[in-house]
Amino acid sequence: MIKNNPVILGIESSCDETAAAVIRGRTLLSDEIISSAAVQAKYGGVVPEIASRAHTDAIGNAVKRALDSAGVRKEELDAVAVTYGAGLLGALLVGLTYAKGLAYSLDLPLIGVNHIRGHLAAAYLEDETLRPPFITLLASGGHTAVIYTKTETQFEILGGTLDDAAGEAFDKVARILGLPYPGGPHVEALASAGSNAIAMPKMLKGQGGFDFSYSGLKTYVINYVHTMSQKGCTWSKADLACSFQHAALDILVEKTVEGALVKHCKTVTAGGGVIANGYLRAALTSACREKGLNLVLPARSRCTDNAAMIAAEGLIQYRAGNFSPLTLNAAASIPLR
Ligand code: KG4
Ligand code: ZN
Repeated sequence: MIKNNPVILGIESSCDETAAAVIRGRTLLSDEIISSAAVQAKYGGVVPEIASRAHTDAIGNAVKRALDSAGVRKEELDAVAVTYGAGLLGALLVGLTYAKGLAYSLDLPLIGVNHIRGHLAAAYLEDETLRPPFITLLASGGHTAVIYTKTETQFEILGGTLDDAAGEAFDKVARILGLPYPGGPHVEALASAGSNAIAMPKMLKGQGGFDFSYSGLKTYVINYVHTMSQKGCTWSKADLACSFQHAALDILVEKTVEGALVKHCKTVTAGGGVIANGYLRAALTSACREKGLNLVLPARSRCTDNAAMIAAEGLIQYRAGNFSPLTLNAAASIPLR
């Protein structure tokens, strides 16, 4: 029997966060994360084998904490939603296998969730009245796109990156500046001490439709650092971080607002790790206000990887009657639809 406001456990283990969350309808009851990011930082990126082992150690605890802090017994669950792709295969398998075991033992439906669709669904938890159509800015470590959501289950990708994703560009620039992984928050912190004083390439401003390209910007930053140090010039890391941040993010705001206008959408949402960036949040907020658009921004902790967004997408699939067989396999890469 399909319930109107089911209690759904979400599980996420696609990268270095072991996360579990419980929702009732669109109400978030708990949201727990056990991260191996501090261990991974020593290696300058995510080591798949270390991530898998950390997930194995943490998964039982993460689920227990999520149920306990939600005040929900596992027998009260109506479904288990779990990320099955895209991500690190070994890492995904830990969450997926655990979810299958739980679903089988409790005789609950299993819902395999596409991680990126989870990022798109995060906004539904922020505003329980949010309904399509709307335009979403998706910006994570692997994806950058402007997406038109027609109905809860139908999307149109208006444009995306032709090369690097926005988060990837932040991570690469962080590495050039000697900052730890993941680079985004560190570049943002450094940028707040600098000014937008260095002219950057224009990206695909005013051209390329809704597409983005970050390779030119990244190369410009690499060349700038090399040229300055070869010439023995003094230069400001903070100014470079700030100027890069403006160039990398202004174009996202511009094309997102343009997407809303072209598609006659009154509402804009956003998802993915880069949306945690304070400069981007402020810029998107003022651009939407200027154009009279309603902006629904997930809380920062629900922009970076989390299980609440997986439960939220699980709810959409539950209501659509899309359940997964227990033979569902993990997939390292899957398309958005
Ligand atoms: O969505 P996410 O947590 O994982 C993926 O699905 O990829 O996104 C991670 C990406 C990383 O590249 C990270 O550097 C970036 O999001 N990120 C940020 C910020 N916080 C995380 N980028 C810019 N500013 C931030 N504050
Ligand atoms: Zn993600």
